[in-house]
Amino acid sequence: MKKVTINTLRKMKQAGERITMLTAYDASFARLLDRAGTDVLLVGDSLGMVVQGHDTTLPVTMDQMVYHCAAVKRGVQRAHLVGDLPFGTYQGSADEAVKNAVRLIAEGGAESVKLEGGAEYADVVQRIVRAGIPVMGHIGLTPQSVHRLGGYVVQGRTEEKAQKLLADAKALEEAGCYSLILEMMPTELSAQIARELTIPVIGIGAGAGCDGQVLVIYDLLGLNPDFSPKFVKKYLDLGMLIREAVMRYNDDVRQGTFPAPEHSFTGGEQGKGAPVLQLYSSIK
Ligand code: KIV
Repeated sequence: MKKVTINTLRKMKQAGERITMLTAYDASFARLLDRAGTDVLLVGDSLGMVVQGHDTTLPVTMDQMVYHCAAVKRGVQRAHLVGDLPFGTYQGSADEAVKNAVRLIAEGGAESVKLEGGAEYADVVQRIVRAGIPVMGHIGLTPQSVHRLGGYVVQGRTEEKAQKLLADAKALEEAGCYSLILEMMPTELSAQIARELTIPVIGIGAGAGCDGQVLVIYDLLGLNPDFSPKFVKKYLDLGMLIREAVMRYNDDVRQGTFPAPEHSFTGGEQGKGAPVLQLYSSIK
């Protein structure tokens, strides 16, 4: 098993190999996604919506991102691990951005950081990269700017806006980003950006012309029945499977069919006479 690094991702782009990326927020999911061969895991601030239940990513704090990064880190062996800088942790000044990026790496165990925004963040990117931390950019629909954008809407649909996104992408590459996320933009535009940049470009809601794809793992697994945007492919209706399993469990408990004898201990089994806590730790 060879660890995926930013050099691996660069070589994958050069070789025309597509990059797979998913979000993860805890060690158990991270272990599963890593073992399934996912190239990049992102501890996204989307956790504010899918884990914490907020309407936006805006309330997520730096401490929460560090906590989730550290949990995910414990489940990862092969994938490259990216930590998201949450709202308000890099917009104020480059000094603050460096300090917070360092926390994601040093305390959270991330191997690179991601931040949202275009050419106006070139100096921040440069400063973080100068501190020895690889930066992934993110343009198009940038959820931390949801109020300025007027909602979760497709970006770059006019010639002028498309040109601005292309210029942003080039400025971020120039500033030292090792990779770039393009979110919710027309396929022709994202394909052009991917062609014109030498760094790997990863799309979400940006069509098939990118060098790779990222999805929020909860969306891919169908964990939220009320969220079905056009750009998501649900590979599983895990929400329904979970509901069915829990209903069966509830029925079993109510009818007294669980726990059955095979799930229960008797005084004559291994551990007889042992204190209950010792028996429990031997089962774990
Ligand atoms: O926070 C997140 O999960 C993201 C991805 C959707 C790219 O930024």
